[in-house]
This record gives sequence, C-alpha cells and structure tokens, in this order.
Amino acid sequence: MFVTKKKVNGKDYYYLQKSIREGNKIKSECIAYLGKDKEEADKRAAEIIEKIKKEEWRVKDMGDGEENKENMVNENKKEEKSKLSIDEKASSIFTIEELTTFCKRKGFVYPSAEIYGGLAGFWDFGPLGVELKNNLKREWWKYHVYQREDIAGIDGSIITNPKVWKASGHADNFTDVYVKCKKCKKPSKIDKKDIGKVKCECDGEYEVIGDFNLMFKTNVGPVETENSLAYLRPETAQLIFADFKFVQENSRLKLPFGIAQIGKSFRNEISPRDFLFRCREFEQMEIEYFIHPEKRKECSYFEELENFELNVYSEEMQKTGKDSVKMKIKDAVEKEIIKLKWHGYWLANETKWFLELGADKNKFRVRQHLSEEKSHYATDTWDLQYKFPFGWQELEGIADRGNFDLSQHEKFSKEDLKIFDEETKTKVLPHVVCEPSLGVERAFLVFMFDAYNFDEKRQNIVLKLNPKLAPIKAAVFPIVKQPEYNKLAEDIVRDLRKEFNVVYDKSGSIGRRYARNDEAGTIACITVDEQSLKDKTITLRDRDTAEQVRVKIPELKEIMRKVINEGSSILEFGKKVSTRVK
Ligand code: GAP
Repeated sequence: MFVTKKKVNGKDYYYLQKSIREGNKIKSECIAYLGKDKEEADKRAAEIIEKIKKEEWRVKDMGDGEENKENMVNENKKEEKSKLSIDEKASSIFTIEELTTFCKRKGFVYPSAEIYGGLAGFWDFGPLGVELKNNLKREWWKYHVYQREDIAGIDGSIITNPKVWKASGHADNFTDVYVKCKKCKKPSKIDKKDIGKVKCECDGEYEVIGDFNLMFKTNVGPVETENSLAYLRPETAQLIFADFKFVQENSRLKLPFGIAQIGKSFRNEISPRDFLFRCREFEQMEIEYFIHPEKRKECSYFEELENFELNVYSEEMQKTGKDSVKMKIKDAVEKEIIKLKWHGYWLANETKWFLELGADKNKFRVRQHLSEEKSHYATDTWDLQYKFPFGWQELEGIADRGNFDLSQHEKFSKEDLKIFDEETKTKVLPHVVCEPSLGVERAFLVFMFDAYNFDEKRQNIVLKLNPKLAPIKAAVFPIVKQPEYNKLAEDIVRDLRKEFNVVYDKSGSIGRRYARNDEAGTIACITVDEQSLKDKTITLRDRDTAEQVRVKIPELKEIMRKVINEGSSILEFGKKVSTRVK
C-alpha cells in the first residue's frame, strides 16, 4: 500500500492506494482518502494499514472479494466524510477510479474486450449500463424533440461522403498538437497556444511530436485507393447540415427551428482518460438551432426561462481572476455578460434538463470560451460544466456557429441551401445561433456521480437514480423458495415486464437481495410473502428510504407508472409495514 497525491482544482489531496494483480497486470486501487496535509496523510495511512492488519476492517457478509474491498473503502470513507468540508466531500466521496471499479463490478461498463487486455478509449456497456444509457437518451429525445414544436430529429450515417469533412474544415483543421513528456515519456495533447508554456504533471518539459488529425480513417470498397478514403465521423453535427434542406421541407419547419440527432462519434484522442470522460468512441446528442440571420437578437422562448439562475463564468471573469457568479439569465443578458438571449436560453434549457433528472445543481457552471480557444467555426461558445472529482470540466458545448457550416456546404456541394422565410418573404441562409452538443458518456458520469450514496444505516451503496433513468424499475422476490410463492412472483414479473424492465430474484437472503438492488438503483423491491397468498397483496419497498408499504397486486402497474412518470413516492400508495429487514 502507498500514499498518492492528486491535484483537484489546484489543491493537493492524498489517498491511500493499493496495488493489485489482475492476470499479468498490476493495477492500483484507492483504499482511502487521507486529507490534504502530507504529514497527516502519512500518519493516517499508517493507522489504516495497522487497522487492516489487525482485521478491524471486517465487513458484513456481502459476498465476493470485490464487494468486500469496496466495503472497506466505504468503511473508511464513512469515518472521513464527517470531517470534510463540502468542497472536499465533492472531490473525495467517489473518485473516478472508484466509479470505474463499481461500474465494472455491477455490470454498468467494462473495458472493451477485456479478455484480450481491452483497448484504450473504448468501453462496453453491460446489462445495467445499456439500460441507463438508453433511458438517458430517451429522456433527452423526449425533452428536446417530442416536447417541442420547433425541433425534428434525424439519424445520419457514421461514414459519409468525405467531401463533408473537407467542407466542414475537419479534414484540415481538426488537429491537436501531439506532445511527449521528455521525463516520463507520457504522450499528451496540448493547444497550439500552450506550446512552450505548459509542462507535464511530473514537471517534465514537453517535446512537440507534431500536428495530429483526430479523425479515424477507413476505406470504402474492395480496393484501397485515394478515392476510397473515408472517415468515421468525429461529430454528428455535419449530417444535420448536409440534410438540412430535406428535413426542413419534410417537417415543414419554419424559422427559428432545430434539428436534433443522437449517434456515435469517433475521435482518435491522443490521451483518452478518466474512464468515460474522454474516449475514442462515444455518443453525442446534438442540436443545430437555425434562425433568421437578421433576427439574432430575438429569442421566442426567452421569457419561459428568463428567471432561471445560472452559475456564470465569463471570459472577463476568468481573465481578471474573479469567481463565477450566480445570476438569472435575464440579468446576464441585460449586463451583456451573455451577449445573445438565444445563448442564455439554451444554457438554461440544457442545465434544466440535467436538474429535472436529479443532477446536483451546485455542481453546474456555464463557462465562456476564451477568444483564443474557440473552434474554427465558432463566433462565441459557452460550455456547460460539471464539477467532476477531477475538477470543473466540459459537459456540453454550446457554440454560436453563425452561417459557417451552411455556407461551406453551399460552396463545396454547389447546392443552394437557402430557404424561404414566410414571415419576411425572403430567401435566407439561416444562422446556427446555438449548437447544444452533449456527450452521452459524460451525462452518464454525471448521473452516476450524483446518484451514488453510501447509506450509513444500511451500510451499503444506494444508487439514487431518478426513476426515469433507473436501469431496473422493480425486482420481485418470493420470500421463501416454495412453489406457490414462486408461481405468484413469476405471474407478477410476467405482467410487469409488458411495460417495465423488471428482474426476478429468488436467491440469497432477503437482505442480500435488497442490497444488490439498492446498488443497481432498482426503484422498488416487491416481496411475495405469506399474506400475499391469502389476500393478493405484496410489500413494496422504496429504494431511497428502505420503508415498505403493502399494496394490492392489480394496482402495481399503475403505481409504477406514477412513480416513474410523475415522480410520486412509493410510500403514498399503501399502509406502512414494519419488517425486520430493511
Ligand atoms: N459538434 C460540436 C462538437 O462536437 P465538441 O465540444 O467537440 O463539439 C461536444 O464535443 C461534446 O461531445 C463535448 O462537450 C463532450 O460532452 C462530448 N465529447 C467530445 N469529445 C469526447 C470524447 N473524446 N469522449 C467523450 N465525450 C466527448
């Protein structure tokens, strides 16, 4: 075991790590948070190691070794949590390494094809992960497409005519500066403007290797020639531009309007890192929002959200060393901190989506890009940021792309992409005033971090995901393994499965089954007991409180609908029952 230091927002945090052998690889795992002071951390580490030796860390009977290891971490965290400030808690409650281990153990996410050693930057979603990811995408689509008049959806292809990437500028400009540390030899990417200014984490100087285009190349057809070269798309956005005119006509969209898309993107990142945060294959949920070029200052939806409060971090605040400021978007626009109402509106609208699905509002901030860091296409960009355990990071980029893309595609395709605006009776090439572009994997991390709770009473992890996002909606248990109990439980499962993802769990003690489902974020545990056989009622256990109510079996489906779709509490639907096992 050894002590390591991590920098979070410029502050040092110490952790106790342990090396473990997995096959022929040695990996390190976080055992405990040790505080911010080196001397204190060493002292604390010695105490913990001593405790472990004395086997004071015995944990309850939860199953295999992986679970025990994680419980050990939680035991220590429980002790440490009470001593930490809020800021420290945010950065120490659950590290990205712990989340990676947890996701693998529970079947959310695995390193891709791990039996062959995996491949950096590629991940496979397991049985729980695929459900959470699909639920998340469905909620995004409902909010951004179904619930609006002004947005239509598409699903473009991953490989398309390579001229698209010439027109968009990606073929020539989608590059990073590839550097290698002269001391530790770790490869990395940096911005052009940072050459000679930044150093590696180990304090080593960087050696510039060269420019590196992030697009994956492939070949279409049997013969590899210059003309068969194609790319895996590095963003979904360009297909929206290429199909723009068809979609506008087919869906009879009138300015202002948007086109939305969810799909895979691929970037040959030089240094994939932090689990799902930066991968080489990921999904994007993007909208291109088109407006009349002469109406950039009008925003038809602004009033709906003008009082929405954002944590604003403008270019000026960053350059003068000020902190971000909480303000209503109407004030931010009035003071010209956010220049366009459209930008304020989309920043608020996107934050609202996260908050409605249970994300922690204190971990969100909107940060304006500095003039020198803007992409080649953008006139103004704001990022929606989230406070990850490794610091404030981009969650979603919201760029004002002007008419860059449509005019480039007009030029390269020689097609007229102007549309007729009925209100002004003119033909115009619209502006993309905002392009909200969110990575599915980053949203996945946000919901996992905010849902993760260690329950002191239960001595167990409880994943408090919003019911809409929860991978499993209910788990059904017969209290004892006897045919009549099993039969009734199976009938309930069969009926509920017509609408919801439900599991049937008949092995292990009841306490163990609850614990397993709390960790998976299962909203309700349904137990078939002796009374169920007599009066067709079951006990329904609420994940977040571990309280139970008794309800009639025929009412179950409607109760689940209300809990998932309307946010009702399970406890509203029946009389509380007291049980020995919570
Ligand atoms: N169409 C604009 C665009 O692609 P971007 O800022 O490059 O803009 C948008 O990407 C979002 O896609 C990011 O905010 C992030 O959520 C996600 N994203 C980008 N690169 C990623 C990567 N390597 N791994 C995971 N997500 C990524």
